Amino acid sequence: MPGERERYLRQQAELGGREVVLPGRAQRGGAEAPAPADADRPPPERREEGDVGTKGRTAKATGGKWRKGAPNIPEPGLAVESPAVPLVGDPLSGLDTLEKVAKRIRSTYCCDLCPQRTNAVPGEGNPNAELVLIGEGPGATEDETGRPFVGAAGRLLEEILGAVDLTRDDVFICNVVKCRPPQNRKPLPDEIAACIPYLHRQLALIRPKVILTLGGTAAEALLGVKQSLGKLRGKVHSYDGVPLIATYHPAALLRNPDWKKPTWDDVRIARQLLER
Ligand code: URA
Repeated sequence: MPGERERYLRQQAELGGREVVLPGRAQRGGAEAPAPADADRPPPERREEGDVGTKGRTAKATGGKWRKGAPNIPEPGLAVESPAVPLVGDPLSGLDTLEKVAKRIRSTYCCDLCPQRTNAVPGEGNPNAELVLIGEGPGATEDETGRPFVGAAGRLLEEILGAVDLTRDDVFICNVVKCRPPQNRKPLPDEIAACIPYLHRQLALIRPKVILTLGGTAAEALLGVKQSLGKLRGKVHSYDGVPLIATYHPAALLRNPDWKKPTWDDVRIARQLLER
């Protein structure tokens, strides 16, 4: 009978990833507690009509200026199931809190990006967030600080959130890959394959009401398709039943201001979905 750990490593390899445990860091190998069945987890907090955030961070639906001229909610798009649900067979299912996921990310290597990092960037924010924002991968400032979206793109993202009456503390922000690709290049398919189980796990734990992907990499990785952002925008996709809106990456907006208006529309669609 292979142990939990051995099974986990085999599944990692099947997913295209490798995991190397850093020497001296906590890693509970075969002694890991058995994964709790998802059904045992408490149901997500009941949300009152008009609430946006949760658990002490309730942003009431506002009569915000963002509503004026906001587009209607578009038609359904692609629908995918998360490989993290059901949890049977999910190699990370023993990680039953976001902190445990973050600790695992920080203490292990799963692909060739990991040994090059200064800090892994698991993601941060409200563990009960109704909105999860997902970028591509950490940049230089994120690698230095271990925090997502804290450079120039992050400042723009905060402005965008503010414009729809949300703050960083209302949402959860993370990336497809948790370690910086060299020279900020796009993560390679095998790097995404190795790291994405962490993202699936984070989403299974948070169970947000809406997902907003920032840039083509995040949309393609979560929806499992190779399509241009132009094609993926303007639809309400479904990730495990959670509405997913694909929009441009804030870094792309800094380079191409023509994309600001479509992004503003996408964000306002996501914002309306929070109130549904
Ligand atoms: N770009 C990303 O995709 N993620 C970050 O965290 C920062 C910049």
